[in-house]
Amino acid sequence: MALLEVDDLSVTFARRGQRTVHAVDGVSFSVDAGEVVGLVGESGCGKSVTSLAIMGLLPKQPGLRVGGKAVFDGTDLLQLDDRSRRDIRGRDVAMIFQDPLSSLNPVIPIGLQVTEVLTRHRGMKGEAARKEAAALLDRVGIPDPRRRLKEYPHQLSGGMRQRALIAMAVACRPRLLIADEPTTALDVTIQAQILELLKELVRDSGTALVMITHDLGVVAGMCDTINVLYAGRVVETARRRPLFRQPRHPYTVGLLGSVPRLDAGRGERLNPIPGSVRDVLTWPDGCAFAPRCTRRVDECVGEPPELVLTHDGRSYRCVNPAPVPGTPPPQATTTASTGAADDAAASTGAADGATAGPVPAPREEEKP
Ligand SMILES: Nc1ncnc2c1ncn2[C@@H]1O[C@H](COP(=O)(O)OP(=O)(O)O)[C@@H](O)[C@H]1O
Ligand code: SF4
Ligand SMILES: [Mg+2]
Repeated sequence: MALLEVDDLSVTFARRGQRTVHAVDGVSFSVDAGEVVGLVGESGCGKSVTSLAIMGLLPKQPGLRVGGKAVFDGTDLLQLDDRSRRDIRGRDVAMIFQDPLSSLNPVIPIGLQVTEVLTRHRGMKGEAARKEAAALLDRVGIPDPRRRLKEYPHQLSGGMRQRALIAMAVACRPRLLIADEPTTALDVTIQAQILELLKELVRDSGTALVMITHDLGVVAGMCDTINVLYAGRVVETARRRPLFRQPRHPYTVGLLGSVPRLDAGRGERLNPIPGSVRDVLTWPDGCAFAPRCTRRVDECVGEPPELVLTHDGRSYRCVNPAPVPGTPPPQATTTASTGAADDAAASTGAADGATAGPVPAPREEEKP
């Protein structure tokens, strides 16, 4: 069993007089010790809510409902009382937040906050702890670390606070670390330094790392397995190489097509995904990505696409996925509903052997 098994996690926010928000809708993924698993998607797709739910840190507001399981080393984190959850957070599980100010204590100098972690988790004291704390600040690119250790969070810039927080998370060598956009606000050289430090943590301490990001560059350099989220659901899961080489879900194809590549031909254009994340269908009415999808066919609406498992251990939710090159097009079983989908379906064979249907259990993709 994996160190963390997230199973059918759902989070809804209901507010009187407003539409209920299904921020997370049946998300499942797992992370092993020493593995880096990515949660990727555009802003608003449910990445932060997923991580906060696992950590038990969602704001306790009326109308909040959390369902499913998040089993860490045999314990369902969602069933813990506040005290046990705090214990496990202090001991085994850590998180780097998007907003660093809220997670540092404003009235305690940075140095004391880092050394306290070193004392609690690694038994280091006095000068040895101070030396290690300074070395960690140095590793995350904070200049003059000995002086910075004496300063309070408000005396540091936002970027430095973020780096101090990362230093604290690394200092406690957690068994599980959830990093929510840890480097988004930082410049690229510092970003590279921090990603290297996180990789080292995974390699040397066997930490299981959940890397949450909208940045495919970060994913390409870090993650072993990637879960692509759209509208609160995982729409594709694959190991890094197959995902980048041959994305199947049209949303993944769109994400990859909208980032610059060093190996792109001269004059080659980027292809941003049409529409915005606000253009979503509710899942019960069909595929949420349908309003933006260029491979849309009739079967995409009416029923949510079921999960398809492929022979190489990948999975996706799509009735008309991008084809694998060299595969003979299967018999077209669907009629396209848009011009764009017409083209795509005609050139590849619609549905690629997959059929949409109400069956909830995952099924295997037919062999080509
Ligand atoms: N406290 C909240 N109350 C109501 N809706 C929320 C709350 N927090 C997040 N959401 C909604 O949940 C969805 C997912 O948000 P979030 O997980 O922050 O996205 P991401 O991290 O992928 O950018 C968004 O539509 C957001 O507006
Ligand atoms: S082809 Fe259909 S099911 Fe697949 S992503 Fe597009 S709209 Fe969704
Ligand atoms: Mg977020």
